Amino acid sequence: MRDGKMMNAVILKALRGTSGYVSGEQLSAMNGISRAAIHKRITFLREAGYEIESVTKKGYRLLSCPDTIDDFLLLSEVETSLIGRNIITLDEVDSTNEYAKKIASESPEGTVVIADAQYKGKGRRGRSFYSQKGSGLFFSVILKPDIAPQKAPFITGIGSCALVLVLEDLGKKAQIKWPNDVWMNGKKISGILTEMSGDIEKVEYIVLGIGVNVRNTFFPKEIESIASSLELEGLKISRQQLFCLLMKRLEELYMDYLRGEHHRILRILTEYSCILGKEIVIHNDKEVRYAYALSIDEDGALVVSVEGGGKRRLNSGEVSIRESGR
Ligand code: BTN
Repeated sequence: MRDGKMMNAVILKALRGTSGYVSGEQLSAMNGISRAAIHKRITFLREAGYEIESVTKKGYRLLSCPDTIDDFLLLSEVETSLIGRNIITLDEVDSTNEYAKKIASESPEGTVVIADAQYKGKGRRGRSFYSQKGSGLFFSVILKPDIAPQKAPFITGIGSCALVLVLEDLGKKAQIKWPNDVWMNGKKISGILTEMSGDIEKVEYIVLGIGVNVRNTFFPKEIESIASSLELEGLKISRQQLFCLLMKRLEELYMDYLRGEHHRILRILTEYSCILGKEIVIHNDKEVRYAYALSIDEDGALVVSVEGGGKRRLNSGEVSIRESGR
């Protein structure tokens, strides 16, 4: 017999599949349990925030869903075969990347750790990532590609490409700021942090951590001039819906990557880049350098021509668009 979580998922999938009613009989046949047991499940779902109407002789109808990080709803929605087939949901965690790294060796590829809030959300270069409860999507995907570690940075690009494609499908234009931010209208709406374990020859696992500001209506003073959210940029979407769309796109692009079809990812990274063809500033620990962003190469590195002469490949680092007159 299925466990309770799976039954909830099956019930929700059936209810979401129609704007009409699904009878108790149908639901019990789908799950192989009695009508009384279905009633218990419906009560549980109602308590979890789902508005479910029940009408005698018709059955049950779903009126609304809460925008919580519910594993059974996510399970009932995700239609992928690898990424997100196994989902671990947490109310709050220090960082989903940290959690994912702890379980990565024993977890199947494609496992996703998602949290409603992070109290130590990690950004690149030792920075923190603002992770307010209930407002954003914070998740990490465990990947186990059979590749050499030098190839791993390209995986970061899969995350940003997936997000811009999903937003495009939803009618919103977003841009990728190499190496790992997604921007809308000049502000950051998402950051990606890829972490890896392995030896010189082979990757053991990669944790692809993605944070998206979805429903935030304000940000702390320190970041309010650079951060935005999908809602502030005019896109109202539930975190669950966004998550499911992202799972699909991530799987599609990751499969392309495994098949060696890098060119598609590279094309998206290039087409949606907000720095290519622009004067940029490269921020190193000690100095800043001015350059012109030329292209992104097969390994995901940024190719620039440096002021004063010469081409350079940047594997990682911090760049910003150079404001005119500076
Ligand atoms: C950055 O902007 O520098 C990268 C931010 C990455 C944030 C995501 S949220 C999910 C995952 N868990 C973390 O602690 N960080 C990543």
